[in-house]
Amino acid sequence: MQNIKKITALETYSVRQPVLRKGKPLSSCQFDGDELKSTQHFGFFIDTELAGIISLYKKNNDNFSSSNQYQIRGMAVLDQFQKKGIGAKLVLFCEDYCKEIHVDLIWFNARTSAVGFYEKLGFHKIGLPFEIKEVGEHSLMSKNLID
Ligand SMILES: CC(C)(COP(=O)(O)OP(=O)(O)OC[C@H]1O[C@@H](n2cnc3c(N)ncnc32)[C@H](O)[C@@H]1OP(=O)(O)O)[C@@H](O)C(=O)NCCC(=O)NCCS
Repeated sequence: MQNIKKITALETYSVRQPVLRKGKPLSSCQFDGDELKSTQHFGFFIDTELAGIISLYKKNNDNFSSSNQYQIRGMAVLDQFQKKGIGAKLVLFCEDYCKEIHVDLIWFNARTSAVGFYEKLGFHKIGLPFEIKEVGEHSLMSKNLID
């Protein structure tokens, strides 16, 4: 059985560490705002195994004028479960969640290697790529949720 459930920040670490913080200490898996009430963490389960994760933070980015923005962070699928549609399902789940709570815009800093994945889901790159220390090259990407 496969499904998406709300999880805690701590539960994300079993996927964040091997996929996003490989070889780095567990403390590097803690992101600013992880414990805020407005933050949501979702996990994709295959039976009882957590296979993929995504987190949503209520955070405005000055590059956009929308008043109610959410940021996606910590999008990751365990290596053995990649390319099976799990990442796409998690992003679409977050989009639906954001639409329900009347969010105007979703944005995030995408790793260059993942830009194509997000473009397939209708997100657009803004500006030039930039470097995030110790993580690598990223591009700002976004999608408007209101017409
Ligand atoms: C990027 C990632 C989240 C994608 O998740 P996934 O479950 O493997 O992706 P899906 O199977 O849902 O892919 C959906 C579509 O995007 C494509 N796709 C997946 N990864 C891609 C990538 N890196 N570049 C371009 N296209 C990609 C798939 O081929 C699929 O296309 P299709 O609909 O035409 O078949 C996953 O590969 C991952 O965890 N990567 C390492 C961590 C990472 O880079 N996270 C993002 C940080 S910003």
